[in-house]
Amino acid sequence: MNMPKYEKIWLLFGTGTLLVFLIVVGISAFYMGNQPPSCAVTLDPQKVDETPPFDKPGLKQIGDNEYQLDIVASAFDYDVGAEDKLVRIPKGATVHFNATTKDVVHGFQLVGTNVNMMLEPGYVSTYSNTFDKPGKYTLLCNEYCGVGHHMMAATIEVTE
Ligand code: CUA
Repeated sequence: MNMPKYEKIWLLFGTGTLLVFLIVVGISAFYMGNQPPSCAVTLDPQKVDETPPFDKPGLKQIGDNEYQLDIVASAFDYDVGAEDKLVRIPKGATVHFNATTKDVVHGFQLVGTNVNMMLEPGYVSTYSNTFDKPGKYTLLCNEYCGVGHHMMAATIEVTE
């Protein structure tokens, strides 16, 4: 005759746990905003071209073999500050990628490294990487963004 009582307790416990879970997920998704943690910095996506540092995209040396690379993504291009979409850095360089998008959501994946971000309008996405191996690394878009999606690319070349 004790079984129904325990069943009731466990049923209540199960329902309670589910409710707590849903509330926590709901608060973090809708109230706090569901943005990647690196997207703490915001800007007006309409004014990217006038907002420093994105008014002058490209590579900036900020320390001893340390660089900041400001990149503006748009359909269907990465503006890395170079006509040929090629950025050269010396071996061992640490690069702080600083990227945003002017229009829709784009991906930001540097093949062969851990650099993999999502670029969302209104947010600045950052990721740092140290390049110890010389070679060419392809930056590509891994979020479908339209007819020219496959054309979005740039190259980081690490020289000896
Ligand atoms: Cu940009 Cu796909």
